[in-house]
Amino acid sequence: MKKLIDKQGRHIHKLRISLLDACNFNCLYCMPEERQFMPKKELMSREEIFRLASILVKNGIDELRLTGGEPTLRSDFVEIVKDLSTLETKKFGFTTNGRSLSKTLDEIKDTNCKYINFSLDSLNQALFKKITGKDVLEDVLHAIFKAKELGFQIKINVVLMRGINDHEVEDFIEFSGNHGIEVRFLELMKIGVVNAKDNDQFISASEVINQVQKNWQLNSVKRKIDDTSFNYVLENGANIGFIASESMPFCNGCSRLRIGPKGTLRPCLMMNEGYKIAGVGEEEVLELLHRVMDMKPTDRIENIEQPMYQIGG
Ligand code: 5AD
Ligand code: SF4
Repeated sequence: MKKLIDKQGRHIHKLRISLLDACNFNCLYCMPEERQFMPKKELMSREEIFRLASILVKNGIDELRLTGGEPTLRSDFVEIVKDLSTLETKKFGFTTNGRSLSKTLDEIKDTNCKYINFSLDSLNQALFKKITGKDVLEDVLHAIFKAKELGFQIKINVVLMRGINDHEVEDFIEFSGNHGIEVRFLELMKIGVVNAKDNDQFISASEVINQVQKNWQLNSVKRKIDDTSFNYVLENGANIGFIASESMPFCNGCSRLRIGPKGTLRPCLMMNEGYKIAGVGEEEVLELLHRVMDMKPTDRIENIEQPMYQIGG
C-alpha cells in the first residue's frame, strides 16, 4: 500500500466525505437562521462519490467517514454505503444526529460500514429540544441502542456549552458506564455561527477535567498519534474522551483530508480552499491530491466563517 506523507511528515490516511449540507436539526452552534442548502443537482452523484473514493483508497486512504449536514438525509445513502463498503478500508463509518436511522441500520448492518458517531448534546428531553430545535431525543436514543445491539462500533459526541449543557457531564459519565458506550466531549469551535457570538459558552477540556476529577479517578487510555480525543476510563466502566480542538489543537498529528458535497478536495476543517476533483480524470485527481496535501496547515487556523453544516464535522 502506498503511503501518503505530507510536507510535515504527517501520514495522511483518513478521508471525510460530506454527502450534502442539508440537515433536519437546527443546532444552536451550527445552523444560522438564514440558510440556503445546495441544490441537489450540484451535489456529487452516487457514482462520482464511489469513483473518487476508489481512486483515493487505491492511493493511500484507508479510513472513510461520511458526514453532512446530515448524511443519512440523502435518498441514496444506503446505496452509497453499500458501494463504499466494497472498498478495502480499515475503518468505514459515518457521523449522524441519529434521527430516523432505525430502518437504515437494518439495511446496512451487513456491510463493512461499522463505525457510527452520534451527535448528542443532552440527555434531557427539554434541553435536547432547545439545542437541536427538535423534540426527538427518544428517537435518537432508540437509534443509538439499536446500533449498539446490531454490533456497530459507536461513539457519542457532546459539544459542551457553558451554562447550557455543561451540568450534564456527570449524567453522560453515568450513561457511558451503564451502557458501555464511549462519550466524547467536544470543545465549541470557532466555526460559522459561533464566530458571531461572544464566546462565553466556550468551556475548555481542562476545566471540565478538573471538575470530573473531583468525583472520579481518571485512568488515561493509550492514544494513536492522530486520535483527535484523549480518553479516560473511570471506575464505573465509563470511557470518556475530550476533543480539545481549541485549547489543545492536534494539527501536528492530523491525518485527514475532506471532500465537500460538490466534490472539492480540502486540506483542513478550518480552510475553505481546495480543488474540485469531481469530474476530473484519475491522473489529475492524484496530482491535485498532492497539491491539497501540501496545503495542510501546520498550526491551528484561528476561525472560519463558513458554517459547519457546509463543511461537515
Ligand atoms: N464546535 C464543535 N463541534 C461542532 N459540531 C458542529 N459545530 C461545531 C462547533 N462549532 C459537531 C457536531 C457533531 C460534529 C459533526 O461536529 O455536534 O458532533
Ligand atoms: Fe445538523 Fe449536525 Fe449542524 Fe446539528 S450540528 S444542525 S445535527 S449538521
